[in-house]
Amino acid sequence: MCGIIGFTGYLDASEVLISGLSALEYRGYDSAGIACFEDGQIAVRKSVGKVAMLADKVSGTLHSFCGIGHTRWATHGGVSEVNAHPHSCGRVTLIHNGIIENYHELAGELAATGRIPVSQTDSEIAAMLIDSLYEGNPRDAIAKAASRLEGAYAFCILFSDIPETIYCIRKGSPLVACHTEDGSLVASDMVALLRYSKDYFVLPEDQIAVLSRHGIEVTELDGTVVTPVMLHVTWDMSAAQKNGFKHYMLKEIHEQPESLRRTITPRTMRCVYRHDDGSCAEYYLPDFTADKIPDSVFQDVNRVVIAACGTAMHAGLMGRILFERLLRIPVTVSIASEFRYENPILDETTLVITVSQSGETADTLAALRLSRERGAKTLSIVNVKGSSIARESDYVLYTHAGPEIAVASTKAYTAQLAAFYLIAFRFALARGAIKAEVCASMTEQLLSTIHSVDDTLLLKNQLKDISRHLVTASNLFFIGRSLDYALSCEGSIKLKEITYIHSEAYAAGELKHGTLSLITEGIPVIALATQSDVLSKMISNVKEVRARGAMVILITKKEAVVEESLYDYRVDLPDTPDLYAPFTAAVVLQLLAYYTSSYRGLDVDQPRNLAKSVTVE
Ligand code: M6R
Repeated sequence: MCGIIGFTGYLDASEVLISGLSALEYRGYDSAGIACFEDGQIAVRKSVGKVAMLADKVSGTLHSFCGIGHTRWATHGGVSEVNAHPHSCGRVTLIHNGIIENYHELAGELAATGRIPVSQTDSEIAAMLIDSLYEGNPRDAIAKAASRLEGAYAFCILFSDIPETIYCIRKGSPLVACHTEDGSLVASDMVALLRYSKDYFVLPEDQIAVLSRHGIEVTELDGTVVTPVMLHVTWDMSAAQKNGFKHYMLKEIHEQPESLRRTITPRTMRCVYRHDDGSCAEYYLPDFTADKIPDSVFQDVNRVVIAACGTAMHAGLMGRILFERLLRIPVTVSIASEFRYENPILDETTLVITVSQSGETADTLAALRLSRERGAKTLSIVNVKGSSIARESDYVLYTHAGPEIAVASTKAYTAQLAAFYLIAFRFALARGAIKAEVCASMTEQLLSTIHSVDDTLLLKNQLKDISRHLVTASNLFFIGRSLDYALSCEGSIKLKEITYIHSEAYAAGELKHGTLSLITEGIPVIALATQSDVLSKMISNVKEVRARGAMVILITKKEAVVEESLYDYRVDLPDTPDLYAPFTAAVVLQLLAYYTSSYRGLDVDQPRNLAKSVTVE
């Protein structure tokens, strides 16, 4: 939600800012802008639309070594140049990611000092507030402003009388920074800094970073100097580039075997079993020693609550089924944006699992904070190292999916599934709910699933052909039972967000309780039938939609016997035991959504109105 970058040093600032904004564009792409020191003055350039439009406007017009840049996802005020960042007031120019909740009240107070905003944004009010408090000491002004601001923010601020220097503060919204021999950089996300450094730090909340070309000083609000904790990224630039694929989404779909391998294998411990005759057999068990997650986390709880948003929440739906099947303890899944308003029942015997690719989703973070306040144990499944959710959880299981740039989550989702499978297996083992040999066999099957996911990618031509028949649809349905229903929810969001085709996911048995009235001649129904225990029931549901004229795309397994008259297209998944079919079926649904969006000529990676990381409530 909004991308932020700041640079001061020895390179051409506008180039650094534009290339950084291009890398951050997935966070928001309504409009973009930069502000740079040029000959002692602050020059501002803004443009509605994508960063490329701003780049054209800026090209060759700015000569600067220090500046800040922003790519916007509109919250307060429509998409217009005047609402685009940076915003200036008096000696202050800033960029902002977040939402200032009390901006209306502050605007009233500031109007009394003659400061009248020109935009409709809350961010301009923040610039006005800092300017009103500025008496020559930026830190004081920022600290005083922070005590007045309610909501979430990450600011990069220029003071016109302090050239070549950037001031930063954050609360609730992310900011990472690094210093290199080229200068100092700050950004909302590491992908923008990767060209310059793999070492960085996360600016802690309520601390101020001052960037100069010589270094970065971090202080508490009272001026006490603190030493930031350095982190290191293990992936490089190519992980955040398209590498020959037409879109990031397609590249990320193809990266799933690797991302699963990286997520699963470090969490499997090789064990050797010696038979009575002296021969040995080796087997693998899930193991979280390196993640510092002791078995006691699983042994001392009697309930699990999963909280997340969007796709991450759909991974949680799958987690719930696994946990309940293997552990026989109650599990609930909450939409994180509802969690704190539901007054959840939590105590020290509850394990709350929050799931997030970015680790910065505001609602998931709020759910985590409330869970801690109420004494629950917290474990997070997170992709971005050092993110807020990771740092604030008692325990973290990182997915190692690498950077996910496309707004539609793909490899992060299957990595989250893998994390849930590993946790469920270890959880069950730690509580004695399953025997070691059962756990070993399930772990082995999970490892083999990586190859099945690879094989699923070979279905892409068939899926491309099927997608042609979805291009003109205006509504469609996903149906499934048990694990397939949880996956239907994910298939539906994937399709909706990038194709703009309305779709709904239905538990197949629920159709006749209302939705069947929407099934008319030619309506596409994507029927997931990968679970043999409910196959016959699923076939009955397919008959129900078929009888009403639906165009059926059946996703199933080779061995499933289904009359040909019941479907228009049939996709047979590579061979996997039922429990692991969600991995391969997920890839099928991702590819169907991808090709349909692509055939419709849409912006696959940056669908309208959305942003990758939702850091506002
Ligand atoms: O970063 P997070 O995993 O917390 O993000 C949660 C959702 O915003 C995200 O999964 C969203 O639903 C995806 N765009 C769906 O593809």
